[in-house]
Amino acid sequence: MKIGTPKELYEGEARVGMTPDSAQALQKLGYDCILETGAGKAAGFSDDAYRAAGVTIVDSADALYAGSDIIAKVRPPETSEIDRLSSDKTLISFFYPAQNKDLLEQAKEKGADVIAMDMVPRISRAQKMDALSSMANIAGYRAVIEAGNNFGRFFTGQVTAAGKVPPAKVLVIGAGVAGLAAIGTATSLGAITYAFDVRPEVAEQIESMGAEFVYLDFADQQQDGAATGGYAAPSSPEFREKQLEKFRELAPQIDIVITTALIPGRDAPKLWLADMVA
Ligand code: NAI
Repeated sequence: MKIGTPKELYEGEARVGMTPDSAQALQKLGYDCILETGAGKAAGFSDDAYRAAGVTIVDSADALYAGSDIIAKVRPPETSEIDRLSSDKTLISFFYPAQNKDLLEQAKEKGADVIAMDMVPRISRAQKMDALSSMANIAGYRAVIEAGNNFGRFFTGQVTAAGKVPPAKVLVIGAGVAGLAAIGTATSLGAITYAFDVRPEVAEQIESMGAEFVYLDFADQQQDGAATGGYAAPSSPEFREKQLEKFRELAPQIDIVITTALIPGRDAPKLWLADMVA
């Protein structure tokens, strides 16, 4: 059985579906590994590094798809990639089947099997396959690093003989996996960090990461914010208004805002508006 990884087509995508390390682990399980030449380049892995790990390098996507039983990649496939599938092939990638109905239809017409990494249930048993968490974790961390690069001051406060610099104030909106990673990074750099989420049960998690939970004076916060399975439900217009009011009150004293709020299967709620930025 052969597992193959093509080059990602999406411009600027640096990730790759197989690394020299993961290829070795797959070979231990009895699979052969193939890679399209250059697929690992943007991630810092040369063809030679893969060859040294026992991977066969092929020179085109056509050869890669033709030679693989299982295709493992990162981004949802483009139509040209679906066209290369057939009933004897399995694709493993992010897919978002509910949002990409056309893609799903195309894969169905080809008779190919698709395993959507975004649909792996977030249960303890499946934790090591949780690609959503690993990506959200990096996104939260990276948001703080990017903000730090744009922010003119230190995160941590300093008092020296030469003078005083106040610590940065960071507000993280949405405290799921990405938000908690952002909180951890911001507090470890010394910022005073505040966080808000519609699910009140995360207050304890926020506080355990060293941030302050922003409470809303709203009678039904619990019922309003939490849906099932640890995810949020869309907020009522009244709740949203209360939330925006609170953000407007906080805006003048906050240096950095990181928004990670999401509701599965929907566009992210817009919570930091132009007047708050101003
Ligand atoms: P997500 O990416 O869907 O949402 C991010 C956060 O935004 C959530 O905490 C949500 O409550 C919040 N949010 C939504 N609307 C908002 C609004 N209007 N204002 C403020 N915040 C808003 O969620 P994510 O990060 O994928 O994880 C959600 C939960 O899933 C986790 O807290 C955890 O309970 C559960 N989970 C379980 C795992 C496991 O058991 N293996 C792994 C990862 C997550």
